[in-house]
Amino acid sequence: MKILVTGGAGFIGSHVVDELIDAGHRVVVVDNLHTGNRTNLRPEATFYAADICDRPAMAAIFEQERIDAVSHQAARANVRESMADPIGYAETNVLGTLVLLELARQHQCAKFVFASTGGAVYGEGYSEQGGKLPFTERSWPQPKDNYGANKLSMEYHLDLYHANYRLPYVALRYPNVYGPRQNSKGEAGVVAIFVGAMLAGQPTKITGDGKQQRDFTYVGDIARANRLALEGNAVGIFNVGTGVPTDINTVHEILTEITAYPHKPGYIPRPVGEVLATYLDSSKAKQMLGWEPTVSLFDGLTNVVEWMRGQK
Ligand SMILES: NC(=O)c1ccc[n+]([C@@H]2O[C@H](COP(=O)([O-])OP(=O)(O)OC[C@H]3O[C@@H](n4cnc5c(N)ncnc54)[C@H](O)[C@@H]3O)[C@@H](O)[C@H]2O)c1
Repeated sequence: MKILVTGGAGFIGSHVVDELIDAGHRVVVVDNLHTGNRTNLRPEATFYAADICDRPAMAAIFEQERIDAVSHQAARANVRESMADPIGYAETNVLGTLVLLELARQHQCAKFVFASTGGAVYGEGYSEQGGKLPFTERSWPQPKDNYGANKLSMEYHLDLYHANYRLPYVALRYPNVYGPRQNSKGEAGVVAIFVGAMLAGQPTKITGDGKQQRDFTYVGDIARANRLALEGNAVGIFNVGTGVPTDINTVHEILTEITAYPHKPGYIPRPVGEVLATYLDSSKAKQMLGWEPTVSLFDGLTNVVEWMRGQK
């Protein structure tokens, strides 16, 4: 297939590009390099430095490249920034996504895969059992920020494009994704921030008491979920996490061991609105996409440390 990967020069997008090229697909990348970097990109990918909100540019790319399917990773993805710039966030995350959806409909694309978010869409939501965790796709979403609301609203649009125009879609609700090429500004920048500080011998800071629980999932596993979603017939919303809650203190401890960091972390006040615990039940993805995470937290964190050492 010829697959358009938006945001393909970014952290997750560039791993999706690698996964697709390795599987024999042809890949076209659109990225405005807002946070992405061309050095993340393999030479086999055709690259357009363009903004997904630029309708004529996007239309020309779809026309010229004859796109078969879309993996839509481009977004502005910083929760706190989304509260400071709600309109800018809606422009990229809502209007930009609609530009792509319209073009995918017009060009009768075989699949539209959307990078959604478990953490920000579920927010402080409730699970179907009335308790909270782990979140399943039937849990009640309760975004606490503009970014999460942007992503949830696009899931509704995907569903209506499928219902009205038969555009097949998969929305992948990502947990806290970590791995090589992550910068410290994303949703799960904590790993990149800790490793950067530890390798530089600088102090590390943990917000609150460090007992906040997250579902840390390795980027290679997320890239594979994208490929399976693009290649398979399943349609709908899927969690793609390990289902294992890990607190921030534990991540710090493991990284201390891997990097032989000699200092204890400092503790600073928790930001207002920070979700205390979120992790995802991904049995639907296992059943319908044939997807399961394969990389252990220790191995994944070791890969990050090795990659960051190589960047110095
Ligand atoms: N990293 C995580 O843990 C996480 C968790 C949940 C969801 N997500 C989602 O995964 C996707 C990828 O996130 P990431 O962590 O790789 O972040 P990233 O910032 O590394 O990647 C986003 C990419 O999109 C590009 N981009 C932004 N606005 C654009 C625009 N208007 N036009 C074209 N390109 C644009 C950026 O330059 C960047 O390369 C995003 O949709 C994000 O919301 C990430």
